[in-house]
Amino acid sequence: MSKYDWNKEVDRIGTSSFKTDSKKVKDILKLNSYDDTIYLWVADMDFACAPEILKVLHDRVDNEIFGYTYKSDEYNESIINWYKRRHDIDIDANDLIYSNGTVAGIRNIIRALTDEGDGIIIQEPVYYPFATQIKGTNRKIVSNKLLCDFENNYSIDFIDFEKKARDRHNKIFMLCNPHNPVGQIWSESDVKRMMEICETYDIIVIADEIHCDLIRKDAKFVSAYNLYNGDKMILATAANKTFNLAGLQITNFVINNMEIRKKIVKYTGDIFVNPFAVEATIAGYNEGEEWVKELNEVLDDNFDFMEEFIKENLPKARFNKPEGTYLALIDFRDYGLSEAELLCKIADEAHVILEGGAMFGNSIEGFVRLNAACPKHVLEEALTRIADIFKQ
Ligand SMILES: Cc1ncc(COP(=O)(O)O)c(C=O)c1O
Repeated sequence: MSKYDWNKEVDRIGTSSFKTDSKKVKDILKLNSYDDTIYLWVADMDFACAPEILKVLHDRVDNEIFGYTYKSDEYNESIINWYKRRHDIDIDANDLIYSNGTVAGIRNIIRALTDEGDGIIIQEPVYYPFATQIKGTNRKIVSNKLLCDFENNYSIDFIDFEKKARDRHNKIFMLCNPHNPVGQIWSESDVKRMMEICETYDIIVIADEIHCDLIRKDAKFVSAYNLYNGDKMILATAANKTFNLAGLQITNFVINNMEIRKKIVKYTGDIFVNPFAVEATIAGYNEGEEWVKELNEVLDDNFDFMEEFIKENLPKARFNKPEGTYLALIDFRDYGLSEAELLCKIADEAHVILEGGAMFGNSIEGFVRLNAACPKHVLEEALTRIADIFKQ
């Protein structure tokens, strides 16, 4: 029996929602929207927030003043306790640095800790704003491309990784685990090996593990934070992702190197926290565990459904169930369309908006990324529409 309603469709019209705005979709993806379009792209969820969070936000509004707000002890402790309980990570409150979102924080970190022209290692195909921040700050993208086998299972090219870490021009490694968009969780031994290489060559690690609470029932996640023995680790944690609060922009970096913290704060100045972010974080981390448990069960169920559905109805598509995140990568290359044709066909004929693989780099053109964090009947409707257009 569910405590929460995972079938509820929340109308986002009139909320300036990026995901469901036809103009944004046209500008960014060059795709058309229709009255009945289903938007399964940007990585926020279509589930209502936990009522435990909604309650404190309502109460906060009733207080009527939204003045300058600091990170209270309760705020820090809620993060510390969550990460200890769920991931066995010991965090000191002094090590927490707040940021208005993860991407903004990564950009600031790059600027604070490196110089123009320095190399930043990423593992493409990967969440494309990593590359955008590197390019946007005039640093150099150094791609340790993931290896892919015939079944679309990805692995790390360690020889290339070490070669790139050894290069003195390269200063930061951005780890993405669980990995967006390939959906895999790197094994403990893989993460340990990457961390040892970074320690050896004095590479700063930004461990973007913000999907770490969204993992499948049989998957195991071990944080790089616990496998790293150097002194240049920056761990990104985000209530944003776990509790579907992307618009509140709540990221906390954990950095136990004081010199690194000082450099970042010198660059950004002190940042006040948004009062809603404070309340939502405390409520989510202290009272949201049951909601996250159910959310993961719903995602398990959605992905099980998807796997069966695709096998039966889209026989030429290939889909590996992700171990983490709520994002599914589906290989449509055997349908023989260019990626642009594929996305337009799905948008114009099925009225479903998806993202293409090309933007994530490293030859996953012809794949689509589908955000499955929506009520199951919505996912079913979207997949049925897509299957129908490929039957014709
Ligand atoms: C790996 C990864 N990092 C960062 C972000 C964005 O985080 P934020 O909204 O906190 O900037 C996302 C969003 O999907 C993501 O998948």
